[in-house]
Amino acid sequence: MFASNIARRACRTSCNRPLRNCRFNHSQPASSQRTEESSTTHFGFRTVPEEQKESLVKNVFDSVASSYDLMNDAMSLGIHRLWKDEFVGLLKPGAKGPQKCIDVAGGTGDIALRILDHARERYADRETTVDVVDINGEMLKEGYKRFKKTMYHNTPQIAFREANAQALPTEQFPENTYDLYTIAFGIRNCTSVPDVLKEAYRVLKPGGTFACLEFSRVNNPLLSTAYDQYSFSIIPLLGTILAGDRVSYQYLVESIRRFPPQPEFAQMIADAGFTTGGMFEGKGGAWRDLTFGVAAIHTGVKL
Ligand SMILES: C[S@@+](CC[C@H](N)C(=O)[O-])C[C@H]1O[C@@H](n2cnc3c(N)ncnc32)[C@H](O)[C@@H]1O
Repeated sequence: MFASNIARRACRTSCNRPLRNCRFNHSQPASSQRTEESSTTHFGFRTVPEEQKESLVKNVFDSVASSYDLMNDAMSLGIHRLWKDEFVGLLKPGAKGPQKCIDVAGGTGDIALRILDHARERYADRETTVDVVDINGEMLKEGYKRFKKTMYHNTPQIAFREANAQALPTEQFPENTYDLYTIAFGIRNCTSVPDVLKEAYRVLKPGGTFACLEFSRVNNPLLSTAYDQYSFSIIPLLGTILAGDRVSYQYLVESIRRFPPQPEFAQMIADAGFTTGGMFEGKGGAWRDLTFGVAAIHTGVKL
């Protein structure tokens, strides 16, 4: 009887499916729905109980995993590749000798591959290692398949581990372990950004670098309007055409708009204990804008 009640009620999100068919957990029993006392967070433009966000995000990435790389290219017109190149180029992995790196929310391994290639091609370094960590096994599987075709497969240079960025298990990820912590297009999907930063600080060695590449804020009003129009009309449409999945891509766009703007995020990094540049953009500053602020690189050092 409970199931048929659920089926009759429509999902109130943009998916508009009967609740029974909705992939975004609305078909949970009433007991797990939001209560007055529970804390809430955002999931795209929706407000949801904190404890639900992780499974909602997991559903999104389960759904997009197999089409993720193709969609990334289509959505950003290939520009995400340039941003990722610039991100890794800025960090210069291997320049000062082999490094122990962790790429959190590493998904299909885009950043890990660039780190290892950069170290090898620029500095003939075959000892730098990357642990790719993600909460989603499906994304890691895609990454593993991809690395199978590379020279790093079956070497100590790469490992894939399923874990939550907000609570990295201490036995697997002890404190003061890594020289470089990267997170690209992942932190906005996490329920608690301060918890992710706290964990990053814990696992980095003193002197280690935290680096985040994330969608950010376009400050120019004209560009910002054009960007909004592109994001909210074209991206969900591409999601429908290329991946048969409008809802997940609508979430991805909404989640970008909910992420704090550059100065606010820089302050959160400083509050977690990292030494950052000044609270401004560019040389000597805490962040660097890419493509007018569509994305930004934030860095901090654990002293
Ligand atoms: C947009 S993808 C980015 C993947 C990759 N870093 C890249 O740049 O292509 C976001 C990733 O964050 C992961 N993720 C979301 N929440 C997470 C969490 N709490 N802990 C670890 N990974 C998480 C997702 O599973 C997904 O693989």
